[in-house]
Amino acid sequence: MCGIVGYVGMKQAQDVVIEGLRRLEYRGYDSAGIALVHEGDLATDKRAGKLANLEKAIAETPLPSSTTGIGHTRWATHGAPTDANAHPHLGNESRLALVHNGIIENFAELRRELEAAGHELRSETDTEVAAHLLESELATGVGLTVAMQRVCGRLEGAFTLVAVDSHDPDRVVAARRNSPLVVGLGDGENFLGSDVAAFIEHTREALELGQDQVVTITRDGVEVTGFDGRPAAGNRYYVDWDLSAAEKDGHDWFMRKEIFEQPAAVAAALLGRHTEDGRLQLDEVRIDDAELRDVDRIIVVGCGTAAYAGQVAKYAIEHWTRIPVEVELAHEFRYRDPILTRNTLVVAISQSGETADTLMAIRHARAQRSKVLAICNTNGATIPRESDAVIYTHAGPEIGVASTKGFVTQMVACYLLGLYLAQVRGTMYGDEISRIVGDLEQVPGQVGRVLERADRVYQLAEELVGAKAVLFLGRHAGYPVAMEGALKLKELAYIHAEGFAAGELKHGPIALIEEGLPVFCVVPPRGRDQLHGKMISAIQEIRARGARTIVLAEEGDPAAADYADTFIALPRVPTLLQPLVAVIPLQLFACQLATLMGHDVDQPRNLAKSVTVE
Ligand code: F6R
Repeated sequence: MCGIVGYVGMKQAQDVVIEGLRRLEYRGYDSAGIALVHEGDLATDKRAGKLANLEKAIAETPLPSSTTGIGHTRWATHGAPTDANAHPHLGNESRLALVHNGIIENFAELRRELEAAGHELRSETDTEVAAHLLESELATGVGLTVAMQRVCGRLEGAFTLVAVDSHDPDRVVAARRNSPLVVGLGDGENFLGSDVAAFIEHTREALELGQDQVVTITRDGVEVTGFDGRPAAGNRYYVDWDLSAAEKDGHDWFMRKEIFEQPAAVAAALLGRHTEDGRLQLDEVRIDDAELRDVDRIIVVGCGTAAYAGQVAKYAIEHWTRIPVEVELAHEFRYRDPILTRNTLVVAISQSGETADTLMAIRHARAQRSKVLAICNTNGATIPRESDAVIYTHAGPEIGVASTKGFVTQMVACYLLGLYLAQVRGTMYGDEISRIVGDLEQVPGQVGRVLERADRVYQLAEELVGAKAVLFLGRHAGYPVAMEGALKLKELAYIHAEGFAAGELKHGPIALIEEGLPVFCVVPPRGRDQLHGKMISAIQEIRARGARTIVLAEEGDPAAADYADTFIALPRVPTLLQPLVAVIPLQLFACQLATLMGHDVDQPRNLAKSVTVE
């Protein structure tokens, strides 16, 4: 949510900042802006709409040469996406420029105070008050670092702030509270970014900052303090992916590239997590075995797609460990005053590791002394940092706004966690665990086989251009897959889509079925309980009422094929693992249909990649 870039060095800051914004645009694309320091003055430009609008404006009216600059790509919170509300914002005397991600909750009272003191605010944003406060502090004679420390002490809410002072051209100062910010360490140059994609082209050496810290970058130095001015240290690390991971690699969309990366992503998520004989080794789970044996309840929290991964986890973890598992949307969790004890394990799933709702949920859980385990894709993000343990999903950067490889690897991490708990608690025999580990090891190849048949799904998308609504049905672990399929379609194709548990149909939703309505049906593998037969009955019922059935079932399933208007074959996998392969055609379908409808798949309307505001 909002992308931020800062640079000091020897290169043209405009090029570095614009390139960084391009890589961060997935975080928000309501407007974009830049500020450069040039000969004791500020040069700025900012435009509503996508970064391309800003680039066009700069091409028409070039900015002066400069080696210090900041930039911003916005997901609007306070104020409509207009030029005036775009960042950077300037102080009263236009000495200082500021960009911001987050929400300053006490901005209204600060604004009143500033206006009473004669400040003229030009936008509807919360950010502008911080710009004016900073400039007022500078006017007292302190430098930008001290001004930032003082102002941060007055702000409430979540924020990353990055500022330049035209009187101090070789310095960029930033601060963070509950909002992401990383420093890129270069040679004779340093960088700031909402995430490492902002500077990955220039350096893979990074510094992760803690909460409530201020960082000052110059060409040759990086200095970190707390808001109280006391020296602090960041955590230096090496980014284990490179520029190619942040490029589309010949695909039309990042999303499509990421869909096709899933065999490799699943393999990476499994790598090093078990011995050759299938014994789990999750060294990152720093909660000791005795405590894991005492766990009497698990609550999985997450939002959107991550919450659906949690719903899949519920089926697997309960089955393997017999520990009751609840799944809760992170934004609902803390407000219902959940019952939490020392023996409750809270599992927080978040691709970005920065989702504010999930972060607040884990803070609540830890305050009640529950242990928190994060499942996360982003090294060093706030959620894993604030958790007792973490399982990283190792999917590599996910840039498409709609989560794909993030989701699949979250499920893999949940399976690993379930098996690990079963191992520690002795609820499964070693050979059972190693058999399932063996099944998981087959998944990269099986996902690859589904992807080889992408053309069939693309053809279906062509046939369904113009559909007004689409339903998705599933049972058991296929139910969250149905909801995920519907979510992908809503967010990319802007079509009304719903995922239902197939058994629920006859209790109401079947009234929606009408002639020609496309309904995707995720059929469980044959042989387990009566799930398969029950699902086939549901398909017959909707087909009898005119639905166009698109049936996803294992290859060679004659009963499923008989009732399919379109049959999409899945490899044979155990029921609990089927979501890993069943979701793939649904991702491909949403991506392709949105493409055919002319939508921007990587930047769907109104959305942003990581939701860092509550
Ligand atoms: C949907 C999607 C979102 C995210 C949700 C949580 O395609 O991407 O629903 O899953 O915003 O994000 P993370 O996993 O970063 O916490």
